[in-house]
Amino acid sequence: MNSTPKRQFALQGAAVILVLSIAWPYYGWKAEAMPWLETSLAIGGVALFFATVSRQPWWWRVIHGGFMPLVWYTYGLAIDPIWFLLAAIFLLLVFRGALSGQVPLYLSNKQTVAALADLLAERGPSRFLDLGAGLGSTTVPLADALPDSHFTGYENAPLTWLVGRFFSLGRPNIRWRWDDLWQARLGEYDVVYAFLSPAPMPRLWEKVKAEMAPGSLFISNSFPPPGVTPDRIVDVDCNPPRPLYCYQL
Ligand SMILES: C[S@@+](CC[C@H](N)C(=O)[O-])C[C@H]1O[C@@H](n2cnc3c(N)ncnc32)[C@H](O)[C@@H]1O
Repeated sequence: MNSTPKRQFALQGAAVILVLSIAWPYYGWKAEAMPWLETSLAIGGVALFFATVSRQPWWWRVIHGGFMPLVWYTYGLAIDPIWFLLAAIFLLLVFRGALSGQVPLYLSNKQTVAALADLLAERGPSRFLDLGAGLGSTTVPLADALPDSHFTGYENAPLTWLVGRFFSLGRPNIRWRWDDLWQARLGEYDVVYAFLSPAPMPRLWEKVKAEMAPGSLFISNSFPPPGVTPDRIVDVDCNPPRPLYCYQL
């Protein structure tokens, strides 16, 4: 099953083209105005059908079914288009990673941070890297709890980075970088932490194997690299479950 954003664009686009290529000539020939509510519902139904037969996850089916009817409804609200532009810019500034690499922003919780602090304490003073560091929700509390360790965060979504930069202020053991995680030199760190998504994990594991030094530790929150047996799994007491998959290099 292929659920990439490109596939979703293709499914929705196919539904739009199919319905409009029938409706437009039909109402043009009858010299009647296009009934946009019915047309949007028809597009939603066809998109839902396409998403179902191509076995997309249930939330994509809901999105496909509801998208065009919602567009029609929102159009009726006569909202100034500038707001849509501003909302799109805001989303891009925060969720750039979702568009470019299928890695959106969601945050490690307190229990996970506590489990990471225990893992780091076992190792003694360490150089820690958070790949895709979000708002600093791991680096900031860890830097406070473990002042003898050093924490680096790579984040490439501009607004997210800026908020994390603000939270990192006044903490000399944090280096907060606006950069692509694929540019990080993993060999410079004792512990590398990633809380990303299933999509980048095969490529990331290749990078980990190529760059991390013997004795260092790679930790992936929730998304294990496929086909690799972790040396240890730390079950974090939270719901939904967020296991930490640990790989000793
Ligand atoms: C799931 S969040 C995790 C945030 C943080 N590490 C935490 O545990 O709370 C993933 C973050 O990775 C960022 N990200 C995605 N792709 C990236 C890339 N290529 N380079 C840097 N950051 C990226 C996203 O913007 C997002 O903030």
